[in-house]
Amino acid sequence: MSNRRYVIASIPGDGIGKEVIPVGQEAADAVADRHGFSIEWRPLDWSCERYDRTGRMMPEDGIDQVKECDSIYLGAVGWPGVPDHVSLWGLLIPLRRDLDLYANVRPVRLLEGVTSPLAGRGKADIDFVVVRENVEGEYSEIGGRLYRGTEHEAAVQETVFTRRGVDRILDYAFELAKTRPRKHVTSATKSNGIVHTMPFWDERFEAAKQRHPGVGTAQFHIDILTANFVLHPDWFDVVVGSNLFGDILSDLGPACAGSIGIAPSANLNPSRALPSMFEPVHGSAPDIAGKGVANPIAAVWTAAMMLDFLGEPEAAKTLEKAMEAVLTDPAARTRDLGGTADTKACGQAILKAIAG
Ligand code: NAI
Ligand code: MG
Repeated sequence: MSNRRYVIASIPGDGIGKEVIPVGQEAADAVADRHGFSIEWRPLDWSCERYDRTGRMMPEDGIDQVKECDSIYLGAVGWPGVPDHVSLWGLLIPLRRDLDLYANVRPVRLLEGVTSPLAGRGKADIDFVVVRENVEGEYSEIGGRLYRGTEHEAAVQETVFTRRGVDRILDYAFELAKTRPRKHVTSATKSNGIVHTMPFWDERFEAAKQRHPGVGTAQFHIDILTANFVLHPDWFDVVVGSNLFGDILSDLGPACAGSIGIAPSANLNPSRALPSMFEPVHGSAPDIAGKGVANPIAAVWTAAMMLDFLGEPEAAKTLEKAMEAVLTDPAARTRDLGGTADTKACGQAILKAIAG
């Protein structure tokens, strides 16, 4: 047994987060065991439930608590009765900003056993990654409301693009492309309509191209780009966008690859100076929470991304293989994928596949 040991803050959160995160942890522990390292999970009850009890989503020194960990594994936060802006600005946004998790990364891959809503598309057609700028851009607090409640009422919200912020997300996208067979980056823009920030984004994309020779590039306005995700998913390898455009693309992409119950995501601090955060794309799913039927695959794939980032690529591969094996077995698939298994049975099938 080696002494490779990772300390991971585990925040199941609300709803199905509390059902799928334990499955992901168990699967990660199983591959850790097989690949000679160990994980110390630090459970944290940060959630809407905690907000109801204490008036805060997380304790005041929450960020300091997770800074000591190697990474953060999060289920989902949000629950009826607590406004979504409370859970977002009380937990997710502080984590993203205070830990400088500037790259939001969502792989989009059509896996065997999953049907794409795009007719006639198979495994070879959909395999790309959406890279979203995660800490600046359109999601800024700069702005305000004027003349509230009068007929002159107005609202202003400013977009902030910094050279540092844009360059580093573009560099991340290019570096990622270099690790992939097709070595191609597509930029999402709208420089015809948004005449200050988007031409600046385009200029920085041009400069990034010069820094990264050997990577193919394309650029589309966001409107036609969304259409092309649906019409020509095979055109894309790495797709990079601002906070707003990336947000839209990073929901559309996984939707093209089937159920939201399988889509993973990472919020990365590529400098590794602070811990990164890994979470399934889906939310807390109040409509199915407590029934034990949530698909745990997104949480498991997310755990694989986390192990890969922590420097355990072989363990990540074992986990992905196990998950892909389970997806091809209708008896091990959950209901959202037309199967019959519940969360626990799907988790057990994954553990069995890991054991080989
Ligand atoms: P959602 O992702 O929770 O659910 C959308 C639909 O997909 C529901 O019908 C749900 O049953 C289904 N679904 C989601 N995950 C599934 C899984 N693993 N297996 C099977 N079916 C699954 O999105 P919704 O309903 O918009 O949001 C619910 C709450 O979650 C809200 O409070 C929202 O703010 C929060 N949320 C939190 C996120 C996060 O923590 N990062 C992300 C998205 C939503
Ligand atoms: Mg979103």
